[in-house]
Amino acid sequence: MTEPLVLTQTIGEGARRTGVITLHRPKQLNALNDALMDQLGAALQGFDADDGIGCIVVTGSEKAFAAGADISAMAKKTYAEAIAENFIGRNWETILTIRKPVIAAVSGFALGGGCELAMMCDFIIAADTAKFGQPEIKIGIIPGAGGTQRLPRAVGKSKAMDMVLTARMMDAAEAERAGLVSRVVPADKLMDEVLAAADAINALSPASVLLAKSCVNKAFEGGLADGVQHERRIFHSLFATEDQKEGMAAFLEKRKPAWTGR
Ligand code: CAA
Repeated sequence: MTEPLVLTQTIGEGARRTGVITLHRPKQLNALNDALMDQLGAALQGFDADDGIGCIVVTGSEKAFAAGADISAMAKKTYAEAIAENFIGRNWETILTIRKPVIAAVSGFALGGGCELAMMCDFIIAADTAKFGQPEIKIGIIPGAGGTQRLPRAVGKSKAMDMVLTARMMDAAEAERAGLVSRVVPADKLMDEVLAAADAINALSPASVLLAKSCVNKAFEGGLADGVQHERRIFHSLFATEDQKEGMAAFLEKRKPAWTGR
């Protein structure tokens, strides 16, 4: 059997645990090729369909989350081939269809498609060693997995232009100041922090977690008026759940809520 390009494990004790997916092409700094993206998509879908999983983490190695799309696999690709195989579109965006929260745990390089993959996760927790960049312009292309769209939304136009046009890298501290990552933690504490964040999510009502994620994504991916309308419909719909009654009653009764997922 060929060596798997992603490793999966389940961590945690409670009714809902965390599914951890580790990108695993260490010698190539987790350069993202077709087979790896197929395996990543399948692992994400597997955890999304598993009722025992509340939250998913995508991570890489200490040196690299991912150094981008695999350049050796792209070097000779023609325009006609890119279109015929629906390059990127075919298997990179499975992650956008995942309903459970997906946290990127980034250590080392997150470049090109690696940065884009991290940005397709719901939020990024970075080690202090993390470096983000969209260096595609240095190899005669541009970001092709949403980088020109998501980076400006995350860090603003000026910084995004700077990164995309000069190909410079942003360190973890700058990425946190700019809003690209939610927190920066010491490298040796990265997984502890990420798993604690995932555990906090696992303890919540699954319906409100899925719907909160979909609402924040609406803000990020669409326009403001549409987003507020979408949020209002979802907000109203939560009043049909038992967990809303339980959550509010528990607050008023000064006790912990007992979520049922109904
Ligand atoms: N594709 C294929 N192989 C890659 C790779 C990539 N994106 N990034 C690194 N590797 C390979 C290297 O070729 C090298 O392989 P060999 O040992 O066989 O020579 C190995 O990984 C280790 O890399 P380096 O020796 O270069 O390690 P370094 O520490 O000196 O440098 C680095 C690290 C700065 C990340 C450097 O590897 C680098 O610049 N990589 C390319 C980054 C890049 O351009 N990414 C964008 C790709 S295009 C893209 O992603 C398109 C898109 O939007 C979808």
